[in-house]
Amino acid sequence: MCGIVGYIGSNTAVSVLIDGLKNLEYRGYDSAGIAMNNDSKINVYRAEGKLSNLCNVLSSSSFDEYTKGIGHIRWATHGAATLDNAHPHKSNDGSVVLVHNGIIENFKELKSELTEKGYNFFSQTDTEAAANYIDYCYKSSVSLEEGVIKAVNGLKGAFAFCIMSENEPDKIIAVRKNAPLIVGLGENENFIASDIPAIIGKVSKIIYLDDGDIATVTKDNIKVKDFAGNVVNKKVETIAFEAEAISKRGYKHFMLKEISEQSDIIRNTLAERLTGTNLPINLAGVKVEEILSKTKRIEIIACGTSLHAAMVAKNIIEAFAGIPVSIEAASEYIYRKNITDAETLVIGISQSGETADTITAIKQAKDKNSHIMVVTNREDSSIVRYADSLLPLRAGIEVSVAATKSYTAQLVSLYLFALKLAEAKKTVDNIDLRKFKQELLEIPAKLEQILSGSKSIKEIADKYYKIKDFFYIARGANVATAMEGALKLKEISYINANGYPAGELKHGPIALLDENVVVMSVLMPNSSTYDKIISNCEEAKARKAKLIAVTSSNDEYLNVLFDEIIKIPEISEELSPILANIPLQLMAYYISDNLGREIDQPRNLAKSVTVE
Ligand code: AGP
Repeated sequence: MCGIVGYIGSNTAVSVLIDGLKNLEYRGYDSAGIAMNNDSKINVYRAEGKLSNLCNVLSSSSFDEYTKGIGHIRWATHGAATLDNAHPHKSNDGSVVLVHNGIIENFKELKSELTEKGYNFFSQTDTEAAANYIDYCYKSSVSLEEGVIKAVNGLKGAFAFCIMSENEPDKIIAVRKNAPLIVGLGENENFIASDIPAIIGKVSKIIYLDDGDIATVTKDNIKVKDFAGNVVNKKVETIAFEAEAISKRGYKHFMLKEISEQSDIIRNTLAERLTGTNLPINLAGVKVEEILSKTKRIEIIACGTSLHAAMVAKNIIEAFAGIPVSIEAASEYIYRKNITDAETLVIGISQSGETADTITAIKQAKDKNSHIMVVTNREDSSIVRYADSLLPLRAGIEVSVAATKSYTAQLVSLYLFALKLAEAKKTVDNIDLRKFKQELLEIPAKLEQILSGSKSIKEIADKYYKIKDFFYIARGANVATAMEGALKLKEISYINANGYPAGELKHGPIALLDENVVVMSVLMPNSSTYDKIISNCEEAKARKAKLIAVTSSNDEYLNVLFDEIIKIPEISEELSPILANIPLQLMAYYISDNLGREIDQPRNLAKSVTVE
């Protein structure tokens, strides 16, 4: 949510900043801006909307002499997506210029304090209050660094800043508190970014700033202090991703690329962890014995798609390991009195590892001495620092705002975990355990089979893309599939789509059904509720809804009942959510593409939601 990039060196800053922002565009696209410094003055350029608008603003000028700069891509929190609210923001006299990711919670107090002191405000943002407050503190300090240290102690909330001043043009100051920030180490040049994609391919060595770090970055030096002004020694690490990870590789959208690479991703997720049906599952990083020695119940906390993975996990952990599991949206968990304790295993699922709600919830659980297990795609993310056990997804960088490959990797990882618990507790007999392991090993090939049939899914999407209402129904673990299918469609197509347990349809939503509605149902032939869901579909058909099935069934009757059938390979009901979701991802993609939507950057959304 919001992207930040900074450059200080001997090369022209503008191309570094724009390239960096391009790779961060998935974090927000309400406005974009850069500030560049040529040692005598700082010039600020901003544009509403996408980065391409900023590029148009910049296209008529040359910026060769500007070798330092900061850039920002905005996802609006305080203040509408207007030019006035676009970053970078300046202090009144222009001596402090900054970009910000996060929220300054006490900005109203600061604003009125500063107004009394004669400062004026020209935007509705919290960030402008920070710029003026830093300026105010700087004016009574011997250096920008000292001013920033004074100021950050008076700011409440979450903030990652890149700060420049015309008075000290040889440096950029980077600050991190509850919003990620890294420093990239080059030769005679250094970089700052809110995420690795911004500097991928430019440097291989980075420093992860921690909360409470202030880095003074010059072109040949990086000095880090804490908020008390003490020097902090930082570890230099190597970037784990190749530039290739953020290329579309010829696909029209990142989403399609990410859907298409899922069989390889799952091979990667399974590698070394599940190597044969007679061999134990090996989840290095997950302290299974410690977990089992003290766990009476499990709570899984997540948001959005990750919450749907949690729904599947509840089903399978209870079924395989017999441990009671509750799941909750992180944004709800953190504001209620809960019963989390030292005997609760708390699992936080987050693709990005930067979701503010999930991190806050996990911190709260950590304070209650729960064992924290983190399931994430980013081992370098903020949530990982609270983990007692870590289960990385190994899905590679996911660029599209709509989560696809990371969801499939979450499911597979959680199946491995559930089966590992069952293996250790002996709650599933050996024959079944081997069967489930065999099925997991076959997932990549079956994913390939579904993906190779994407043309027929596109044909169905071509037929129905103008429909304005979609219902997704399923039972058991696939209720999560229905909800995830609906979320995927609505977030990228803006079509009204809702997921329900199929049996709930008759308790209200059925009132909305008519010939203008599509009902997508997931039904697995070997399920105990197969006949029930058929009845639910009959009820929808009687209201003239168009019916589409996702199924592995060869039941002839389905040809009579359904308008369209999307076949998936045979799989046990327990593991079916992994496969059943893939056609729904493709449907959402092709429908949205037909509608001409900006698939990788849907309106109002951002890839990682770093505000509560
Ligand atoms: C998924 O398609 C969404 N964009 C969104 O719901 C996402 O899953 C949610 O914001 C949680 O993100 P996280 O997994 O990175 O914590």
